[in-house]
Amino acid sequence: MRTLLATLAALLLTAAPALARSAPVQLGTALNSGGIDNAPYVDALRRYDAVTPESALKFAELHPDGGRYDFAFGDRLVDWSVANRKPMHGTTLIWCYDAVLPQWLLQRSWTRDELIDVMQDHIRTVMDHFEGRVPAWDVVNEAFARDGARRDCLWQRVIGDAWIELALRAARAADSSAKLFYNETAADQPNAKFGAVEAIAADFKARGVPLDGVGLQYHLLQGDAPLQFLAEDAMRRIGALGLALHVSELDGITSTFTGTREQKLDRQAQAFQTVAAACQAVDACFRITLWGAADHWSWRGTGEMAVALDEHFAEKPGWAGIREAIRPAPLPAGQPPSAPGRPLASRAPNAGVFTVSWPASWDPEGAPVNYALEHRDADDAAWSPVASGVRGLGFSFAPGRLERQGTYRYRVRASDGSRAGVWSEEAQPIVVDRADPAPPAITPDRAPDGGGWYRDRVTLTFAGAGDPVLLDGSAGSGVDPSSVPAPSSFASTGAHTVSGIVLDRAGNASRSATATVQVDAAAPQASLACPQPVAVGEPASATWTASDAGSGLVGPANGSLPLDSSRAGTFTARYEAADVAGHRTPATCQYVVGEAPDPDPEPSPEPTASATPTATATGTPTPEPDELAGAGTAPPQQGGPATDAAAGGPAPAVRSATPTLRRASRVGRDGRMRLMLRCPAACSGRLSLRAQRRTLAARRFRAAAGQVRVVLRLAKRDRRALARKGRLAVRLAIAPDGAEPVLRRLTLRR
Ligand code: XIL
Repeated sequence: MRTLLATLAALLLTAAPALARSAPVQLGTALNSGGIDNAPYVDALRRYDAVTPESALKFAELHPDGGRYDFAFGDRLVDWSVANRKPMHGTTLIWCYDAVLPQWLLQRSWTRDELIDVMQDHIRTVMDHFEGRVPAWDVVNEAFARDGARRDCLWQRVIGDAWIELALRAARAADSSAKLFYNETAADQPNAKFGAVEAIAADFKARGVPLDGVGLQYHLLQGDAPLQFLAEDAMRRIGALGLALHVSELDGITSTFTGTREQKLDRQAQAFQTVAAACQAVDACFRITLWGAADHWSWRGTGEMAVALDEHFAEKPGWAGIREAIRPAPLPAGQPPSAPGRPLASRAPNAGVFTVSWPASWDPEGAPVNYALEHRDADDAAWSPVASGVRGLGFSFAPGRLERQGTYRYRVRASDGSRAGVWSEEAQPIVVDRADPAPPAITPDRAPDGGGWYRDRVTLTFAGAGDPVLLDGSAGSGVDPSSVPAPSSFASTGAHTVSGIVLDRAGNASRSATATVQVDAAAPQASLACPQPVAVGEPASATWTASDAGSGLVGPANGSLPLDSSRAGTFTARYEAADVAGHRTPATCQYVVGEAPDPDPEPSPEPTASATPTATATGTPTPEPDELAGAGTAPPQQGGPATDAAAGGPAPAVRSATPTLRRASRVGRDGRMRLMLRCPAACSGRLSLRAQRRTLAARRFRAAAGQVRVVLRLAKRDRRALARKGRLAVRLAIAPDGAEPVLRRLTLRR
């Protein structure tokens, strides 16, 4: 049902203008001042229905001096038009274009009132003079700039915006029977300038400012016509205001086309036929005026072949094209051409520049055919014309003549010049998309690890974020997956910024998306320093410092930890620095808690067991780190102290007195050395020599109060080392059972 209605609507829409048109569209020509005395030219004029003097009725021609009008030449043209029943369209009373104004107007400076007087006097005098002979006048010509603002010219500068209205009112007062027109160039489709013309015309209609019609010039500067539906739209909108409409100046240069003369003229014929078909389709459009009766009389120059008759006044294809559109000949006997093949538009979505082509139609009588192309987007109830009179097997949308946005179907039909065949099958729909896709989404592989920072590395992934729906409700062309940027990974410390765009399948680029991430690729630096020595029971603390180059430290950059010094032993203190990104760096130091050093140590005794001293106890209990390393560590504990007894284990049942070292002998060839201890009371325990994290020799001892001699023996390896170096720094650990060990530094000598 819906389809049926749509088809009916389409039929009505295409058929309506032809049915409703009350009189055929007239074909006019510019009437060149120099042509009136040229017989072939005057002959050619007879092929047109109406004339517009190209220059003879313009301001400078009729009003060459301030106080003087010159109607001699204008009268000849006007009289010719009356005598030959070619209604004249007079142009132009007031043209907003200083270059065409006479010097006397430009060289003086005018007050606003003076210039209004000049303008009104000109209009009144000229229209009075030709009253009854010139039925229509362009009162105002070309008042707007391309952007729709008022164009700069003498009238605008001195009088201001009111000049157009003042001119129209003066014209109506001068000749109430003449039709009054506004004429404009480059407003032949709904662009900004057209919008300004439409708006002022609507305003004038609403306020009763006299205006009867609008002329749209079609000087086709690229040679091609606007898309037909756009030309029709402009014409229809003027008609909708209750105004008459004409194509006031049609010409089209051909030097912009490639190919042979024939190909250029065929292309021009397509342009002319398209404009003519648009005019034919709009009731308000009553005339098409070619701006030149023949190429050699055209202001574009003969070489441009800009109008419809050639320099021999022969009909060019454009002439036939216009006639076909506005003066369909009575149907000849015979059959219409066949339906062309199904048109093919490039299936790739595009931004409006592409070609629709089709397989040829054939005409049973062998007549040459031309084609009409129509399109319909997703929400169009009816087809609308793109181009008429195409004399080839394709039509190209081009920059300056882009297809609208939407999802379009195309159909085409052939005409043999008087009879149109049936429509082809519809082309597959094609997406025309000029809307930019959304900027891509950029997503990190995880949430930041802390405080907005990523620890070690982060990967950012791009993804398409959609392509807007088109005006006809159809989907855009969609993000082109191959345009999505590859992921970026960052693994160095600092802020990293990525940015990227995506393209949609029609080639439109999104705005750039940007994301910045902060990566902390390095753990903090941390160090911990333990005091040495620590006496049992004496308060002590280790100090730490930390730093972090990236995310920064959690907590302060330095501080101290209290150490447990309640008992003797070797302990490890532990501190852990942490950064905001979640890195942790442990730092440890070891400390030895021992007896307070003897404030008055006994002098080192000389060896007694041999003639030469064999070893010297140094009396300083300071441990050396390398000797203590590996003595034990505590489990990690962030930011706080951890201590652990190095020589732990269950306390023995008997508690020994702690002996002191009295003497140490040199090391003999056999590796033996004697140590003399003195026990204040009964003592037992273990003696050991340690160096480089190794125990060199060890021996238990047990004695009553008094002297005790312990012999230790070095292994071969250490004897050799001693022989080589001459001396060895070692630690003597005196570990009484059940009591804290005591460490002594010793230098072994041979
Ligand atoms: C042109 C004529 O064709 C030229 O011969 C003359 O030198 C300048 O004017 N728009 C108009 C027309 O309104 O009056 C112009 O005619 C072309 C542009």
